[in-house]
Amino acid sequence: MNTLSGKHILLGVTGGIAAYKSAELVRRLREQGAEVRVVMTAAAREFITPLTLQALSGQPVHSDLLDPRAEAAMGHIELARWADVLLVAPATADFIARLVQGRADDLLAAVCLACEASLAVAPAMNRAMWQQPATQDNLETLRARRVHVLGPATGSQACGETGPGRMLEPEELARQLDGLFQGGALAGRRVLVSAGPTREAIDPVRYISNRSSGKMGYAVARAAAEAGARVTLVTGPVALALPEQVNGIQVETAEQMHAAVMEHIADTDIFIAAAAVTDYRPQSVAGQKIKKSTAGMTLALESNPDILATVAALPEPPFTLGFAAETDSLEANARNKLRAKSLDMIAANVVGPGQGFEVDDNALQVFWDGGERQLGRTRKTRLARQLVALLAERYQAKYNTDSVIKLHAKDSA
Ligand code: PMT
Repeated sequence: MNTLSGKHILLGVTGGIAAYKSAELVRRLREQGAEVRVVMTAAAREFITPLTLQALSGQPVHSDLLDPRAEAAMGHIELARWADVLLVAPATADFIARLVQGRADDLLAAVCLACEASLAVAPAMNRAMWQQPATQDNLETLRARRVHVLGPATGSQACGETGPGRMLEPEELARQLDGLFQGGALAGRRVLVSAGPTREAIDPVRYISNRSSGKMGYAVARAAAEAGARVTLVTGPVALALPEQVNGIQVETAEQMHAAVMEHIADTDIFIAAAAVTDYRPQSVAGQKIKKSTAGMTLALESNPDILATVAALPEPPFTLGFAAETDSLEANARNKLRAKSLDMIAANVVGPGQGFEVDDNALQVFWDGGERQLGRTRKTRLARQLVALLAERYQAKYNTDSVIKLHAKDSA
Protein backbone atom coordinates (compact mmCIF):
# COMPACT_ATOMS: atom_id res chain seq x y z
CA MET A 1 0.00 0.00 0.00
CA ASN A 2 1.29 3.48 -0.84
CA THR A 3 0.90 5.21 2.49
CA LEU A 4 2.26 8.54 1.23
CA SER A 5 -0.89 9.43 -0.65
CA GLY A 6 -2.55 12.41 1.00
CA LYS A 7 0.21 12.73 3.61
CA HIS A 8 1.55 16.16 4.56
CA ILE A 9 5.33 16.02 4.19
CA LEU A 10 7.36 18.95 5.41
CA LEU A 11 10.75 18.84 3.71
CA GLY A 12 13.61 20.69 5.36
CA VAL A 13 16.53 21.44 3.05
CA THR A 14 19.88 22.41 4.56
CA GLY A 15 23.02 23.69 2.88
CA GLY A 16 24.90 20.81 1.30
CA ILE A 17 25.64 19.95 -2.31
CA ALA A 18 23.02 17.18 -2.12
CA ALA A 19 20.39 19.95 -1.90
CA TYR A 20 20.05 19.65 -5.69
CA LYS A 21 18.52 16.18 -5.13
CA SER A 22 15.71 17.75 -3.08
CA ALA A 23 14.07 18.89 -6.28
CA GLU A 24 13.77 15.30 -7.50
CA LEU A 25 12.63 14.20 -4.03
CA VAL A 26 9.77 16.71 -4.04
CA ARG A 27 8.73 15.47 -7.48
CA ARG A 28 8.72 11.82 -6.39
CA LEU A 29 6.78 12.49 -3.18
CA ARG A 30 4.14 14.38 -5.12
CA GLU A 31 3.94 11.63 -7.73
CA GLN A 32 2.97 9.34 -4.86
CA GLY A 33 0.14 11.66 -3.87
CA ALA A 34 1.82 13.44 -0.93
CA GLU A 35 1.39 17.16 -0.27
CA VAL A 36 4.82 18.72 0.16
CA ARG A 37 5.87 22.01 1.74
CA VAL A 38 9.49 23.07 1.84
CA VAL A 39 11.50 24.93 4.48
CA MET A 40 15.03 25.99 3.43
CA THR A 41 17.92 27.23 5.51
CA ALA A 42 19.86 30.27 4.31
CA ALA A 43 22.77 28.00 3.30
CA ALA A 44 20.46 25.74 1.27
CA ARG A 45 19.46 28.74 -0.85
CA GLU A 46 23.10 29.00 -1.96
CA PHE A 47 22.79 25.55 -3.56
CA ILE A 48 19.27 25.54 -5.02
CA THR A 49 16.78 28.32 -5.60
CA PRO A 50 13.51 28.50 -3.66
CA LEU A 51 11.80 29.07 -7.01
CA THR A 52 12.72 25.55 -8.15
CA LEU A 53 11.27 23.97 -5.04
CA GLN A 54 8.24 26.25 -5.15
CA ALA A 55 7.51 25.23 -8.74
CA LEU A 56 7.85 21.53 -7.93
CA SER A 57 5.94 21.57 -4.63
CA GLY A 58 3.27 23.96 -5.89
CA GLN A 59 3.58 25.83 -2.57
CA PRO A 60 5.51 28.88 -1.40
CA VAL A 61 8.87 27.97 0.11
CA HIS A 62 9.48 29.05 3.69
CA SER A 63 12.84 30.38 4.93
CA ASP A 64 12.56 33.23 7.40
CA LEU A 65 11.78 32.87 11.07
CA LEU A 66 11.23 36.55 11.61
CA ASP A 67 9.41 37.50 8.42
CA PRO A 68 6.08 38.95 9.65
CA ARG A 69 4.36 38.28 6.30
CA ALA A 70 5.46 34.63 6.24
CA GLU A 71 4.55 34.16 9.90
CA ALA A 72 1.10 35.63 9.25
CA ALA A 73 0.53 33.18 6.37
CA MET A 74 2.01 30.02 7.90
CA GLY A 75 4.45 30.47 10.75
CA HIS A 76 6.70 27.88 12.36
CA ILE A 77 3.99 26.56 14.67
CA GLU A 78 1.44 26.16 11.86
CA LEU A 79 4.03 24.44 9.68
CA ALA A 80 4.91 22.08 12.53
CA ARG A 81 1.23 21.29 13.10
CA TRP A 82 0.58 20.81 9.39
CA ALA A 83 3.18 18.03 9.02
CA ASP A 84 2.48 14.30 9.21
CA VAL A 85 6.21 13.81 8.95
CA LEU A 86 9.13 16.22 8.86
CA LEU A 87 12.06 15.07 6.73
CA VAL A 88 15.32 17.01 6.66
CA ALA A 89 17.10 16.06 3.43
CA PRO A 90 19.90 16.75 3.06
CA ALA A 91 20.77 17.09 6.73
CA THR A 92 24.28 18.51 7.09
CA ALA A 93 26.61 17.65 10.01
CA ASP A 94 26.07 21.17 11.30
CA PHE A 95 22.28 20.93 11.19
CA ILE A 96 22.35 17.55 12.92
CA ALA A 97 24.48 19.06 15.71
CA ARG A 98 22.05 21.98 16.04
CA LEU A 99 19.13 19.57 16.15
CA VAL A 100 20.79 17.74 19.04
CA GLN A 101 21.16 21.05 20.88
CA GLY A 102 17.50 21.92 20.38
CA ARG A 103 18.31 25.25 18.73
CA ALA A 104 15.52 27.45 17.41
CA ASP A 105 17.52 30.23 15.78
CA ASP A 106 16.32 29.72 12.23
CA LEU A 107 12.99 28.64 10.78
CA LEU A 108 13.88 25.01 10.11
CA ALA A 109 15.42 24.45 13.56
CA ALA A 110 12.39 26.11 15.19
CA VAL A 111 9.97 23.96 13.17
CA CYS A 112 11.89 20.81 14.17
CA LEU A 113 11.61 21.81 17.82
CA ALA A 114 7.90 22.60 17.56
CA CYS A 115 6.96 19.54 15.53
CA GLU A 116 5.20 16.64 17.30
CA ALA A 117 4.99 14.49 14.17
CA SER A 118 7.67 11.95 13.25
CA LEU A 119 11.02 13.49 12.41
CA ALA A 120 13.44 11.94 9.91
CA VAL A 121 16.87 13.11 8.77
CA ALA A 122 18.81 12.08 5.66
CA PRO A 123 22.45 12.88 6.48
CA ALA A 124 24.68 14.14 3.67
CA MET A 125 28.32 15.05 4.29
CA ASN A 126 31.93 14.26 3.55
CA ARG A 127 32.96 10.76 4.74
CA ALA A 128 35.44 12.10 7.34
CA MET A 129 32.78 14.37 8.83
CA TRP A 130 30.39 11.42 8.93
CA GLN A 131 32.93 9.21 10.69
CA GLN A 132 33.81 11.79 13.36
CA PRO A 133 32.81 10.62 16.85
CA ALA A 134 31.06 13.97 17.35
CA THR A 135 28.74 13.28 14.41
CA GLN A 136 28.21 9.65 15.38
CA ASP A 137 27.38 10.66 18.99
CA ASN A 138 24.91 13.22 17.68
CA LEU A 139 23.24 10.58 15.51
CA GLU A 140 23.00 8.24 18.50
CA THR A 141 21.32 10.99 20.51
CA LEU A 142 18.81 11.60 17.75
CA ARG A 143 18.05 7.88 17.39
CA ALA A 144 17.48 7.67 21.15
CA ARG A 145 14.96 10.50 20.73
CA ARG A 146 13.16 8.40 18.10
CA VAL A 147 14.36 10.48 15.17
CA HIS A 148 14.55 8.28 12.07
CA VAL A 149 17.97 8.39 10.45
CA LEU A 150 17.66 7.48 6.77
CA GLY A 151 21.01 6.57 5.22
CA PRO A 152 23.53 7.73 4.34
CA ALA A 153 24.71 5.76 1.30
CA THR A 154 28.31 4.91 0.56
CA GLY A 155 29.98 5.85 -2.71
CA SER A 156 31.78 8.59 -4.57
CA GLN A 157 31.29 12.04 -3.10
CA ALA A 158 31.14 15.52 -4.57
CA CYS A 159 34.43 16.33 -2.82
CA GLY A 160 36.18 13.61 -4.85
CA GLU A 161 36.46 11.13 -1.97
CA THR A 162 34.74 7.77 -1.64
CA GLY A 163 33.00 6.49 1.48
CA PRO A 164 29.89 6.83 3.63
CA GLY A 165 28.06 10.16 3.70
CA ARG A 166 26.16 10.41 0.39
CA MET A 167 22.51 11.33 0.77
CA LEU A 168 20.20 8.47 -0.20
CA GLU A 169 18.76 8.76 -3.69
CA PRO A 170 15.32 10.44 -3.80
CA GLU A 171 13.62 7.19 -4.86
CA GLU A 172 15.08 5.34 -1.87
CA LEU A 173 14.19 8.18 0.50
CA ALA A 174 10.57 8.12 -0.72
CA ARG A 175 10.49 4.35 -0.21
CA GLN A 176 11.86 4.60 3.33
CA LEU A 177 9.47 7.40 4.18
CA ASP A 178 6.61 5.21 2.98
CA GLY A 179 7.96 2.50 5.30
CA LEU A 180 7.63 4.85 8.29
CA PHE A 181 3.87 4.89 7.82
CA GLN A 182 3.56 1.13 7.36
CA GLY A 183 2.50 0.33 10.87
CA GLY A 184 1.81 -3.23 11.91
CA ALA A 185 -0.27 -2.60 15.00
CA LEU A 186 -3.33 -4.29 13.51
CA ALA A 187 -1.54 -6.65 11.15
CA GLY A 188 -3.77 -9.57 10.24
CA ARG A 189 -6.83 -8.18 12.07
CA ARG A 190 -10.16 -7.88 10.27
CA VAL A 191 -11.72 -4.49 10.92
CA LEU A 192 -15.25 -3.44 10.01
CA VAL A 193 -15.94 0.32 10.02
CA SER A 194 -19.27 2.09 9.62
CA ALA A 195 -19.14 5.68 8.38
CA GLY A 196 -21.22 8.56 7.09
CA PRO A 197 -24.89 9.30 7.57
CA THR A 198 -27.90 7.20 6.68
CA ARG A 199 -30.88 8.56 4.74
CA GLU A 200 -34.44 7.62 5.56
CA ALA A 201 -36.89 8.28 2.74
CA ILE A 202 -40.05 10.27 3.35
CA ASP A 203 -41.15 10.14 -0.28
CA PRO A 204 -39.27 9.64 -3.60
CA VAL A 205 -37.53 13.05 -3.29
CA ARG A 206 -37.17 13.77 0.43
CA TYR A 207 -35.39 12.13 3.30
CA ILE A 208 -34.37 12.50 6.95
CA SER A 209 -30.61 12.51 7.56
CA ASN A 210 -27.84 14.34 9.44
CA ARG A 211 -24.70 16.33 8.77
CA SER A 212 -22.14 13.50 8.77
CA SER A 213 -19.69 13.86 5.88
CA GLY A 214 -17.98 10.51 6.49
CA LYS A 215 -14.58 12.20 6.96
CA MET A 216 -13.97 10.79 10.44
CA GLY A 217 -15.03 7.25 9.57
CA TYR A 218 -13.11 7.20 6.29
CA ALA A 219 -9.99 8.46 8.09
CA VAL A 220 -10.36 5.68 10.67
CA ALA A 221 -10.77 3.07 7.92
CA ARG A 222 -7.65 4.33 6.22
CA ALA A 223 -5.64 4.43 9.45
CA ALA A 224 -6.66 0.85 10.24
CA ALA A 225 -5.55 -0.25 6.75
CA GLU A 226 -2.24 1.56 7.24
CA ALA A 227 -1.85 -0.34 10.50
CA GLY A 228 -2.04 -3.58 8.56
CA ALA A 229 -5.69 -4.54 9.08
CA ARG A 230 -7.99 -5.93 6.40
CA VAL A 231 -10.67 -3.29 6.37
CA THR A 232 -14.30 -3.33 5.23
CA LEU A 233 -16.07 0.02 5.24
CA VAL A 234 -19.86 0.13 5.29
CA THR A 235 -20.64 3.63 4.20
CA GLY A 236 -23.70 5.81 3.96
CA PRO A 237 -23.95 8.31 1.09
CA VAL A 238 -20.93 10.66 1.16
CA ALA A 239 -18.83 12.51 -1.39
CA LEU A 240 -15.50 10.86 -0.54
CA ALA A 241 -13.26 8.48 -2.47
CA LEU A 242 -12.82 5.06 -0.92
CA PRO A 243 -9.41 4.80 0.81
CA GLU A 244 -6.86 2.56 -0.88
CA GLN A 245 -6.89 -1.09 0.18
CA VAL A 246 -10.32 -0.79 1.78
CA ASN A 247 -13.28 -2.91 0.72
CA GLY A 248 -16.28 -0.56 0.45
CA ILE A 249 -19.98 -1.38 0.77
CA GLN A 250 -22.35 1.45 -0.06
CA VAL A 251 -25.69 1.68 1.70
CA GLU A 252 -28.33 4.33 2.08
CA THR A 253 -30.62 3.51 5.00
CA ALA A 254 -30.00 2.39 8.58
CA GLU A 255 -31.65 -0.94 7.82
CA GLN A 256 -29.31 -1.49 4.87
CA MET A 257 -26.32 -0.54 7.04
CA HIS A 258 -27.52 -2.92 9.73
CA ALA A 259 -27.88 -5.76 7.19
CA ALA A 260 -24.42 -5.10 5.66
CA VAL A 261 -22.74 -5.00 9.08
CA MET A 262 -24.45 -8.19 10.26
CA GLU A 263 -23.50 -9.97 7.04
CA HIS A 264 -19.80 -9.34 7.72
CA ILE A 265 -19.67 -9.41 11.51
CA ALA A 266 -18.79 -13.09 11.86
CA ASP A 267 -15.52 -12.37 10.01
CA THR A 268 -14.69 -9.32 12.10
CA ASP A 269 -12.18 -8.92 14.93
CA ILE A 270 -12.85 -5.23 15.55
CA PHE A 271 -16.00 -3.20 14.83
CA ILE A 272 -15.64 0.61 14.73
CA ALA A 273 -18.97 2.43 14.57
CA ALA A 274 -18.23 5.92 13.28
CA ALA A 275 -21.47 6.22 11.31
CA ALA A 276 -24.11 8.73 12.32
CA VAL A 277 -27.03 6.35 11.97
CA THR A 278 -30.38 8.11 11.72
CA ASP A 279 -32.21 6.92 14.83
CA TYR A 280 -35.72 7.14 13.35
CA ARG A 281 -37.32 6.54 9.96
CA PRO A 282 -40.77 7.43 8.66
CA GLN A 283 -43.30 4.70 9.47
CA SER A 284 -44.33 4.66 5.83
CA VAL A 285 -42.72 6.01 2.68
CA ALA A 286 -45.07 7.83 0.29
CA GLY A 287 -45.05 6.37 -3.22
CA GLN A 288 -45.35 9.81 -4.78
CA LYS A 289 -43.97 13.21 -3.89
CA ILE A 290 -46.06 14.54 -1.03
CA LYS A 291 -47.92 17.62 -2.28
CA LYS A 292 -47.50 20.92 -0.54
CA SER A 293 -50.52 21.97 1.49
CA THR A 294 -51.32 24.94 3.62
CA ALA A 295 -52.13 22.71 6.55
CA GLY A 296 -49.21 21.56 8.71
CA MET A 297 -47.84 18.06 8.39
CA THR A 298 -46.99 15.42 10.95
CA LEU A 299 -44.53 12.64 10.21
CA ALA A 300 -44.95 9.42 12.16
CA LEU A 301 -41.50 7.91 12.89
CA GLU A 302 -40.33 4.54 14.11
CA SER A 303 -36.99 3.48 15.56
CA ASN A 304 -34.15 2.16 13.47
CA PRO A 305 -32.11 -0.78 14.75
CA ASP A 306 -29.16 0.18 16.94
CA ILE A 307 -26.40 -1.46 14.92
CA LEU A 308 -23.62 -1.05 17.46
CA ALA A 309 -25.74 -2.31 20.39
CA THR A 310 -26.79 -5.33 18.30
CA VAL A 311 -23.16 -6.16 17.48
CA ALA A 312 -21.99 -5.75 21.08
CA ALA A 313 -24.82 -8.03 22.29
CA LEU A 314 -23.81 -10.94 20.05
CA PRO A 315 -22.81 -14.11 21.93
CA GLU A 316 -19.25 -13.71 20.65
CA PRO A 317 -18.92 -10.03 19.84
CA PRO A 318 -15.87 -8.53 18.16
CA PHE A 319 -13.91 -5.82 19.98
CA THR A 320 -16.25 -2.80 19.75
CA LEU A 321 -15.28 0.86 19.46
CA GLY A 322 -18.27 3.19 19.38
CA PHE A 323 -18.45 6.94 18.89
CA ALA A 324 -20.56 9.35 20.89
CA ALA A 325 -21.63 12.58 19.20
CA GLU A 326 -22.78 15.00 21.88
CA THR A 327 -23.81 18.63 22.13
CA ASP A 328 -23.57 18.63 25.95
CA SER A 329 -22.38 16.59 28.97
CA LEU A 330 -19.83 14.85 26.75
CA GLU A 331 -18.23 12.63 29.36
CA ALA A 332 -21.41 11.60 31.21
CA ASN A 333 -23.25 10.77 27.98
CA ALA A 334 -20.29 8.88 26.53
CA ARG A 335 -19.79 6.83 29.68
CA ASN A 336 -23.52 6.00 29.68
CA LYS A 337 -23.29 4.73 26.09
CA LEU A 338 -20.15 2.74 26.91
CA ARG A 339 -22.03 0.97 29.72
CA ALA A 340 -25.49 0.73 28.16
CA LYS A 341 -24.19 -0.77 24.92
CA SER A 342 -21.48 -2.91 26.64
CA LEU A 343 -18.69 -1.52 24.46
CA ASP A 344 -14.95 -2.00 24.81
CA MET A 345 -14.23 1.65 24.04
CA ILE A 346 -16.04 4.84 23.09
CA ALA A 347 -14.64 7.93 21.36
CA ALA A 348 -16.64 11.01 22.28
CA ASN A 349 -16.75 14.20 20.25
CA VAL A 350 -18.58 17.48 20.58
CA VAL A 351 -20.84 18.19 17.63
CA GLY A 352 -22.50 21.44 16.69
CA PRO A 353 -22.02 24.31 14.27
CA GLY A 354 -18.49 23.97 12.87
CA GLN A 355 -17.60 21.11 15.21
CA GLY A 356 -17.40 17.34 14.76
CA PHE A 357 -19.57 17.03 11.66
CA GLU A 358 -18.31 18.06 8.19
CA VAL A 359 -15.15 19.93 9.25
CA ASP A 360 -11.62 18.59 8.70
CA ASP A 361 -10.46 18.61 12.30
CA ASN A 362 -11.79 17.11 15.48
CA ALA A 363 -10.89 16.24 19.07
CA LEU A 364 -11.81 13.04 20.89
CA GLN A 365 -12.13 11.98 24.47
CA VAL A 366 -11.79 8.21 24.58
CA PHE A 367 -13.16 6.12 27.45
CA TRP A 368 -12.94 2.46 28.37
CA ASP A 369 -13.55 0.51 31.52
CA GLY A 370 -10.83 1.77 33.86
CA GLY A 371 -9.23 4.36 31.63
CA GLU A 372 -9.53 7.37 29.38
CA ARG A 373 -7.37 9.37 26.97
CA GLN A 374 -7.69 12.83 25.52
CA LEU A 375 -6.79 13.15 21.83
CA GLY A 376 -6.34 16.87 21.17
CA ARG A 377 -7.78 18.81 18.25
CA THR A 378 -6.02 18.03 14.98
CA ARG A 379 -6.86 16.92 11.45
CA LYS A 380 -9.19 13.93 11.30
CA THR A 381 -6.58 11.98 9.32
CA ARG A 382 -4.01 12.33 12.09
CA LEU A 383 -6.57 11.92 14.87
CA ALA A 384 -7.70 8.66 13.28
CA ARG A 385 -4.14 7.33 13.39
CA GLN A 386 -3.88 8.23 17.08
CA LEU A 387 -7.22 6.57 17.74
CA VAL A 388 -6.19 3.41 15.89
CA ALA A 389 -2.91 3.27 17.84
CA LEU A 390 -4.87 3.53 21.10
CA LEU A 391 -7.37 0.94 19.88
CA ALA A 392 -4.48 -1.44 19.12
CA GLU A 393 -3.16 -0.94 22.67
CA ARG A 394 -6.58 -1.68 24.21
CA TYR A 395 -7.15 -4.63 21.89
CA GLN A 396 -3.79 -6.03 22.91
CA ALA A 397 -4.59 -5.47 26.59
CA LYS A 398 -7.90 -7.35 26.20
CA TYR A 399 -6.65 -10.32 24.21
CA ASN A 400 -2.97 -10.13 25.15
CA THR A 401 -1.91 -10.67 21.53
CA ASP A 402 1.79 -10.69 20.84
CA SER A 403 1.37 -9.69 17.23
CA VAL A 404 0.12 -6.23 18.15
CA ILE A 405 3.01 -3.81 18.23
CA LYS A 406 2.94 -0.13 18.93
CA LEU A 407 2.17 2.19 16.04
CA HIS A 408 4.40 5.18 15.36
CA ALA A 409 5.15 6.27 18.89
CA LYS A 410 4.78 9.93 18.05
CA ASP A 411 1.35 9.46 16.49
CA SER A 412 0.05 7.69 19.57
CA ALA A 413 1.47 10.29 21.94
O1 PMT B 1 -18.72 12.16 9.35
P1 PMT B 1 -18.06 13.44 9.87
O2 PMT B 1 -18.64 14.68 9.22
O3 PMT B 1 -16.56 13.39 9.77
O4 PMT B 1 -18.44 13.57 11.42
C1 PMT B 1 -17.89 12.66 12.32
C2 PMT B 1 -18.94 12.19 13.34
C3 PMT B 1 -19.30 13.34 14.26
C4 PMT B 1 -20.21 11.68 12.63
C5 PMT B 1 -18.27 10.99 14.13
O5 PMT B 1 -17.11 11.44 14.75
C6 PMT B 1 -19.23 10.44 15.17
O6 PMT B 1 -19.35 10.93 16.28
N1 PMT B 1 -19.97 9.36 14.80
C7 PMT B 1 -21.04 8.78 15.63
C8 PMT B 1 -22.28 9.61 15.47
C9 PMT B 1 -23.44 9.06 16.27
O7 PMT B 1 -24.39 8.61 15.70
O8 PMT B 1 -23.27 9.07 17.60
P2 PMT B 1 -24.41 8.61 18.67
O9 PMT B 1 -23.90 9.14 19.96
O10 PMT B 1 -25.74 9.03 18.21
O11 PMT B 1 -24.33 7.04 18.59
C10 PMT B 1 -23.54 6.25 19.47
C11 PMT B 1 -22.92 5.09 18.72
O12 PMT B 1 -23.94 4.16 18.32
C12 PMT B 1 -22.18 5.46 17.44
O13 PMT B 1 -21.04 4.65 17.37
C13 PMT B 1 -23.16 5.11 16.32
O14 PMT B 1 -22.49 4.73 15.12
C14 PMT B 1 -23.89 3.94 16.92
N2 PMT B 1 -25.28 3.82 16.47
C15 PMT B 1 -26.20 4.78 16.78
C16 PMT B 1 -27.52 4.63 16.40
C17 PMT B 1 -27.89 3.47 15.67
N3 PMT B 1 -29.16 3.30 15.28
N4 PMT B 1 -26.99 2.54 15.37
C18 PMT B 1 -25.67 2.69 15.76
O15 PMT B 1 -24.85 1.83 15.46
